[in-house]
Amino acid sequence: MAVQAAETSTVSLGPAAALSCRECGTRFPLGPIFACQECFGPLEVAYDLPSGDPEGLKKQIEAGPDNIWRYAPLLPVPADVADKPNLNPGFTKLVKADRLAAELGVTGGLYVKDDSGNPTHSFKDRVVAIAVEAARAFGFTTLSCSSTGNLAGAVGAAARRAGFRSCVFIPHDLEAGKVVMAAVYGGDLVGIEGNYDDVNRFCSELIGDPLGEGWGFVNVNLRPYYGEGSKTLAYEICEQLGWELPDQLVIPIASGSQLTKIDKGLKELIALGLVEDKPYKIFGAQAEGCSPVSTAFKAGHDVVRPQKPNTIAKSLAIGNPADGPYVLDIARRTGGAVEDVDDEQVVDAIKLLARTEGIFAETAGGVTVGVTKKLIENGQIDPAKSLVVLNTGDGLKTLDAVAPTTGPTATIRPSLDAFREAGLDK
Ligand SMILES: Cc1ncc(COP(=O)(O)O)c(C=O)c1O
Ligand SMILES: [Zn+2]
Repeated sequence: MAVQAAETSTVSLGPAAALSCRECGTRFPLGPIFACQECFGPLEVAYDLPSGDPEGLKKQIEAGPDNIWRYAPLLPVPADVADKPNLNPGFTKLVKADRLAAELGVTGGLYVKDDSGNPTHSFKDRVVAIAVEAARAFGFTTLSCSSTGNLAGAVGAAARRAGFRSCVFIPHDLEAGKVVMAAVYGGDLVGIEGNYDDVNRFCSELIGDPLGEGWGFVNVNLRPYYGEGSKTLAYEICEQLGWELPDQLVIPIASGSQLTKIDKGLKELIALGLVEDKPYKIFGAQAEGCSPVSTAFKAGHDVVRPQKPNTIAKSLAIGNPADGPYVLDIARRTGGAVEDVDDEQVVDAIKLLARTEGIFAETAGGVTVGVTKKLIENGQIDPAKSLVVLNTGDGLKTLDAVAPTTGPTATIRPSLDAFREAGLDK
């Protein structure tokens, strides 16, 4: 691997003990590597987690800051992380969505985990916050990523706050809201003529070239650390439910990293004794125009065949998802499913969530709400059991999706007569 960092030997990232291969279990010292040198399987962080005193750990967490650093004892970050310059994302709202529940016929308790409340308005701030601490530990000076939009903005902002240079890569045809969010922080933003999978391929080449030396790609050579940020969604959801596991969760899928790490987080909470061990079901959500994982799930395949994306849900438009096979495993193991909805259903679901709960989701949130509705209708989600649906981004970034069918009820002269004539006085 060509990427070398200034210091890789004696890094200390809190409870992180090593990197471990997901396929063969071989362990490697903590460093900016992402693939097993024995079998090329993906690496993930292995921990020496605190054990023996769940109540003490709960109290420690509850006394922590109102952001993801309250879970620092369970993350690959230094113990004094909260004192370092970082965007400090997390602890977003878990909204009890009673009106949406009534529309969908859910009686077991429906919650929306609304991650649009993060600093750059998507869940990506969580994963980037962890990657920043790894980049600091490994001595990188430039932060980079391949992005479907939200990640580019999250890296741009976090780099500024933490004092890194940034250069991020996106498909050239993203929504204006995503491009502006990625550019406004002043780092370099490069549009690549191609789709996300082309951008990702380009970044893999750059990483192996002297041109990319000293660069921390948050979702490539820092991916094992980056992925851990998504565990905080699992921790928060359970803590906000009063240290209880939800029965069912609906999670969007692009690369599949978020879904696999939420499952990892839930399993850790059980192992630590922070929640009672009971079954939960994980459901994955995709847009029909980019549904490689749901297609494989429904066909009963273990292998995910790549697709060429064509959907308004651009944040989820990854045709060749790195964690696709692991998502299939999790959905099958937990008794969940992976489903998809078309673009019209995505728009309808964005409006449904806005109309019922006052939450304006980006297209990825339209995908999860749309898939939730479909899975309730076809009987795969049990409406009598508790259900958490993720909204991972802010509707202001994907205005184009709803603008053609959303606007003023009327445009009138500034007179009471005109208002009366418009019939809006009731
Ligand atoms: C808003 C939003 N939700 C969900 C995802 C899915 O993330 P993952 O690649 O971890 O599956 C993305 C990825 O870009 C995203 O931008
Ligand atoms: Zn291996």
